[in-house]
Amino acid sequence: MRILIKLGGTLLDTAELRQSLAGQIAAQARHGVEITVVHGGGKRMTRFLAERGIESRFVNGLRVTTPEILDAALNVLAGSVNQELVASLIAVGARAVGLSGIDGNLVEAQQLNAELGLVGRVVRANPELLGVLVGNGFVPVVACIAGDGRGQIYNINADQMAAACACGWHADRLIFLTDIAGVLDGAGRVQAVLTREQSTGLIASGVATAGMQTKLNAACAAMDEGVEQVSIVPGAAPYVLERVLRDEPLGTRIARTAERATAHD
Ligand SMILES: Nc1ncnc2c1ncn2[C@@H]1O[C@H](COP(=O)(O)OP(=O)(O)OP(=O)(O)O)[C@@H](O)[C@H]1O
Ligand SMILES: [Mg+2]
Repeated sequence: MRILIKLGGTLLDTAELRQSLAGQIAAQARHGVEITVVHGGGKRMTRFLAERGIESRFVNGLRVTTPEILDAALNVLAGSVNQELVASLIAVGARAVGLSGIDGNLVEAQQLNAELGLVGRVVRANPELLGVLVGNGFVPVVACIAGDGRGQIYNINADQMAAACACGWHADRLIFLTDIAGVLDGAGRVQAVLTREQSTGLIASGVATAGMQTKLNAACAAMDEGVEQVSIVPGAAPYVLERVLRDEPLGTRIARTAERATAHD
């Protein structure tokens, strides 16, 4: 089985949780599961920028990116966050390799729109490098930065990056590990299953906002492009990876077609 795991940045902030998740990923890799990791680092970026007196501004969950903020993203996301995670994985026996979408021209991007500055939209994933690494027993750990193939670098939303890599690499499953129990409805209940229509509805009604808006859009896009199973699950839940891979009810599963509406807390 081939899985793309997207790790939310908050989960990587504490060494204990990072170490636990690294252990779970290493265990699955040892069992022969083919794994690529894509990680975020939104809150760490916001902190890094605030310490330097730079305010963060978001439009529909995407960070407006000036050249100065892109440089911070290279330092924080492709630098500290990526390498700390790689070191944690190595420490538990996984042969992790840190890279960004620029390496091997893994993900190609174009400017999304002028208002957002250097935010990229993924135009193509070239997954050969993932195949080479995973095929030789390595675990690629990808930071959400990409190039346009002509020298320009873009900040990519990590959820979009994860979806693009999952589709390009033909992952069987895309698992978003995040800092919340799942996708919540207006009453704060975790939605066990969500269709595209329900996801769009939660966004349109202002219930799913910011980081969850981008995640739902990316999750639905990945489903549309053929990833068989997409889930949004709480990364801090004990044994989360094993449980989600065993299809235990946990967090939110994105469904291709309508299923009976269910909820659990
Ligand atoms: N309807 C909703 N259900 C659940 N969470 C929601 C909802 N609407 C907004 N959110 C927010 O979305 C957040 C998750 O997205 P966020 O971007 O913060 O994390 P992430 O994507 O896992 O991490 P990173 O952005 O670092 O990769 C939740 O912590 C919550 O505050
Ligand atoms: Mg996010």
